[in-house]
Amino acid sequence: MKILCINGSPTKKKGMTDIAIDLIMEGAGAAGAETEKIYLADKKINYCTGCFSCWLKTPGTCIFKDDMPELLDKVKNSDILLIGTPLYVDGMTAQTKTFVDRIIPLVEPEFEMVDGHYRHAKRLESIPDIALLSVCGFYELDNFDGLVDHVKRICKNFRSNYLGAVLKPYSYSLVMDELVPDHVKDIKTALKKAGSELAENKKFEENTLNMIASQPFKAQDALNGANMFWDLCRKKKEFIYHRK
Ligand SMILES: Cc1cc2nc3c(=O)[nH]c(=O)nc-3n(C[C@H](O)[C@H](O)[C@H](O)COP(=O)(O)O)c2cc1C
Repeated sequence: MKILCINGSPTKKKGMTDIAIDLIMEGAGAAGAETEKIYLADKKINYCTGCFSCWLKTPGTCIFKDDMPELLDKVKNSDILLIGTPLYVDGMTAQTKTFVDRIIPLVEPEFEMVDGHYRHAKRLESIPDIALLSVCGFYELDNFDGLVDHVKRICKNFRSNYLGAVLKPYSYSLVMDELVPDHVKDIKTALKKAGSELAENKKFEENTLNMIASQPFKAQDALNGANMFWDLCRKKKEFIYHRK
């Protein structure tokens, strides 16, 4: 079982996406999976130009000789693709979308009717199953609705199975070890558990996802805390929750 974990956050090691991905990978590794993490921000991935060469001139191969052909090989050789992205303006980051667009050579141009809906024909016998990991700054879980729907649709478009989504709102609670140590410990344990579940059963248990999404404070208290935090950041002219 190979799990390719994509970190689409431009903050890379400094951010909350990375903390969550590492814990999921740790759990998956303990359950026997082989894992690999890629920072998209370290890769040169050109925007798709929509030339359709990858369908018509050189089927399966893009015109660009950037870092994407190597990543596409990694995708092809994985059983699961974990798309890790923070929520940026209610969707995935630009880095993540650019990567996703460039996966299009894995399907054929022709249309097929699947369950009464147009889909692309498969180029490969199997395309990895896809799971989502996302974190966001706001408090409510419904902030992820658009992104989750998008990723579900991406799976259908690519003829891949959607395995579920690990979602962490109020993401900086992941580093509130001093303020709410027990809560942070429980969330981190649950993230590792999610990784094991993914590796063992190719799905996440509802209890695990609920634990990860749970909040250390009531909504109004969290909001007051966040605004105190922004006040401090403004004074220091620095985002103090980024890891060094
Ligand atoms: C450009 C930008 C747009 C964002 N948009 C949203 C948003 O729409 N909803 C939200 O809840 N958080 C939003 N956030 C907050 C991030 O999701 C949050 O800071 C997250 O922890 C960033 O990921 P990272 O910790 O891996 O850097 C945004 C942050 C940035 C920088």
